[in-house]
Amino acid sequence: MSSSSTDHTLAVEVVDSMERMSGRHPGQRRSSARGAAFRATFAPTGAAAALTTAAHLQTRPVPATVRFSNSEGNPHTPDTAPVTRGMATRFHLHDGSDTDLIALTVPRFVAATPREFLELTEALRPDPVTHQPDPARVHAFVGAHPHLAEAVAQQPPVPVSYASAAYWAIHAFVWVDAAGTRQAVRYRWEPEAGRLGLTADEAATRTAHYLTDELHQRLEQGPVEFVLRVQLADPDDPTHDPSTVWPDHRREIIAGRLEITAPADDQDHWDKQAFNPTRVTTGIQLSDDPVLAFRAHAYAESHLRRSHHR
Ligand code: HEM
Repeated sequence: MSSSSTDHTLAVEVVDSMERMSGRHPGQRRSSARGAAFRATFAPTGAAAALTTAAHLQTRPVPATVRFSNSEGNPHTPDTAPVTRGMATRFHLHDGSDTDLIALTVPRFVAATPREFLELTEALRPDPVTHQPDPARVHAFVGAHPHLAEAVAQQPPVPVSYASAAYWAIHAFVWVDAAGTRQAVRYRWEPEAGRLGLTADEAATRTAHYLTDELHQRLEQGPVEFVLRVQLADPDDPTHDPSTVWPDHRREIIAGRLEITAPADDQDHWDKQAFNPTRVTTGIQLSDDPVLAFRAHAYAESHLRRSHHR
């Protein structure tokens, strides 16, 4: 079998397992089901221009669309749940093409390989009696994969706002400059509003839809901004493992500023769209991270199912 058909077979298995974990919700994304889309402009600082030829990282601002979401595959999970949140950004380039940057409110992914992710979703499958995951199975998963203990234990605070969390794109990507020189990078969005979480008592006073409602209200007062910070790897830093991070003291540059201005006009359109972390552009390449390459197959399978209202 070619590696692509192997990936496809595994993607079908993974998406089946995600459905067993979160329930089957026809027409919905199999992860990050509840979300809303917003209009934005991304203005590059020019600081990245010496390292990549990517069009949106030079000097000219580009329009963008941002979809914020809760990471759950169940669209009925309330916003007050202690889950990770997602920020999927599509940059609309001036040549008519697009490039995506997809991020979560944690720096590490919970698996180093697609197969580990499959095993974790199986361990998280709710018990038929309690309807909750069995902590003993999760414990056994971590026991069998001790290198994932830190990643599985991450629990970001329930945010005050979608605008008050940092979002990591987690995987390494490779920037390529005009001379063909390569530089491995990792991206992070930092909120201009600062990182602000709710206490459990505060979260208990919020509604099931507060995150989208709050962002709509906030935007009536003015734009919401994020800074795109990019960490530059040393030549020996590994690029294949999304469950690990590079040292904090690696050099960072500010590649640009994102200004979110209003809800997107056509939410239905964005409900049907599929973001894709492998949708890169000239000047950006995928790293050797097997999870990054695999995601394209899993997202396509999820999109196929929901496009047929399955
Ligand atoms: C084995 C690894 C992963 C698998 C199998 C997986 C699976 C999925 C699936 C099936 C979807 C729904 C796709 C659709 O129907 O359009 C999704 C959405 C999403 N995933 Fe992942 N994911 C993985 C890793 C990650 C990582 C590492 C990140 C963050 C860097 C991430 C962030 C997101 C976000 C933010 C969305 C929502 C995108 C949107 O708003 O449309 N995922 N994921």
